[in-house]
Amino acid sequence: MSETVTPLAARPAWKALAAHAEAIKPLQLRQLFKDDPARGTRLTAEAVGLFLDYSKNRVTDETLKLLLELAEQSGLKQHIEAMFTGQKINTTENRAVLHVALRAPKSESIKVDGEDVVPAVHEVLDKMSAFSDKVRSGNWLGYTGKPIRNIVNIGIGGSDLGPVMAYEALRHYSKREFTFRFVSNVDGTDFAEAVRDLDPEETLFLVASKTFTTLETMTNAHSAREWTLAKLKQTEAIANHFVALSTNTELVAKFGIDTANMFGFWDWVGGRYSMDSAIGLSTMIAIGPDNFRKMLAGFHAMDVHFRTTPFAQNLPVLLGLLTVWYTDFFDAQTVAILPYEQYLKRFPAYLQQLTMESNGKHVTLSGEHVQTETGPIYWGEPGTNGQHSFYQLIHQGTRLIPCDFIGFAKSLNPLGRHHDMLMANVFAQAEALAFGKTAEEVKAEGVPDALGPHKVFEGNRPSNVILAQKLTPELLGSLIALYEHSVFTQGTIWSIDSFDQWGVELGKVLATKILGEIEASVEPASTHDTSTTNLIKRYRSTK
Ligand code: F6P
Repeated sequence: MSETVTPLAARPAWKALAAHAEAIKPLQLRQLFKDDPARGTRLTAEAVGLFLDYSKNRVTDETLKLLLELAEQSGLKQHIEAMFTGQKINTTENRAVLHVALRAPKSESIKVDGEDVVPAVHEVLDKMSAFSDKVRSGNWLGYTGKPIRNIVNIGIGGSDLGPVMAYEALRHYSKREFTFRFVSNVDGTDFAEAVRDLDPEETLFLVASKTFTTLETMTNAHSAREWTLAKLKQTEAIANHFVALSTNTELVAKFGIDTANMFGFWDWVGGRYSMDSAIGLSTMIAIGPDNFRKMLAGFHAMDVHFRTTPFAQNLPVLLGLLTVWYTDFFDAQTVAILPYEQYLKRFPAYLQQLTMESNGKHVTLSGEHVQTETGPIYWGEPGTNGQHSFYQLIHQGTRLIPCDFIGFAKSLNPLGRHHDMLMANVFAQAEALAFGKTAEEVKAEGVPDALGPHKVFEGNRPSNVILAQKLTPELLGSLIALYEHSVFTQGTIWSIDSFDQWGVELGKVLATKILGEIEASVEPASTHDTSTTNLIKRYRSTK
């Protein structure tokens, strides 16, 4: 694709947007709404249970037209087709990018190197379903004959963030008699606290690692093995208490896990796009195979929407283009993700890996340094907590922070007026950010002159509001896919590889080297800078 697409800064729509942005910047959302009262209903789009109100963005019809032209000129349509048809669009790793195949119905056929991958996807799903049913029904027994009651997922990055987020998000649908824990950090405290009140006889570890080489996961998995054997003594016990979620059969076997208890996936599933593969086994055990398949159906519905809907009504495309607009033309450095749903408390953390590991790139597909800013920083907290913490800066600080508010019509835990209050805050925050409060309005309230400037809200702060009926497994799938494809849209505009992650390598290599130096019996001759040398020396002498 890189060869056929004109460099970003040379695309006509990009040039037009650069000029247009200067004309847009002075425009106020107050004025835009005054000029076009229909704007609040017009600049909306709806699909697969998600309603997007993007009217409170600093855009006009001309902006949207140019952004849509940019998508065309960036080859977005072709790139989407390339992904869905299994072409190797992850060029630096020479891999197809087929998380969409993980949720494709059995009737579909998606080929990689001439081979249809959909049957294998369903084979693994069936194996996961049978296993989950066995565990959930108490028929999967520990080594001493007790049923499993505790599930501990050991993984990091995509092998942790998706499973934790989905478990929290769908807790309402989960098997409450079971205890679920997630261990990711190589800090021993993470493992120690996760298992301190668990009985090894009733505990099943899911070792989740695409590569089965990740230092943190392997270290935690070995500690889990020791913890289990400390009580159960016999190495045969491992078969009852450990399963692997991985692509690496050889290393799984080497670890001592029976490969019959391995749930596989493929190199065309990126770590941060893997929560709906075998990596989702903890989710499936928690919510049951039927609910898991409903979640996959939700993902798939958004996939179909993304692939087939004209860009002007295409939710992920609109979301992605708006992010490019603020990142590149308004110097916005971040995007705040603000779910007004307690169950989505880990959603911002999940999106951090999805968005930043994907689009935190400084070279294009053809290896040149990018000419524009790329992936913004994603962050956030569930509402209303953030309002009493960082919203001050969003309202009155000096930075532009586009916000995505996410809310639901129905609460899963209706309680008096709580939900109405929660949702009133969504609408109030978006309104306050967009329209603010002028000096005249402040004065009319009788505020003393000296205090006036402090009480003015400039407004003109952009936000999207995403509404849905209720947080269900389907809806969660659609919501995640919305952001996956928004990331894809952004990466396509920037002509970067959203599916590699070379930037995590250097730190890993250096840590391995330094670990050897820290553990050496005699102080090794330093090959580092004076700061690193001094820090290692200090640690060695104080540890
Ligand atoms: O940190 C880089 C990374 O490769 C992520 O992309 C990935 O999700 C994580 O490490 C874990 O990798 P694995 O599943 O192979 O253990």
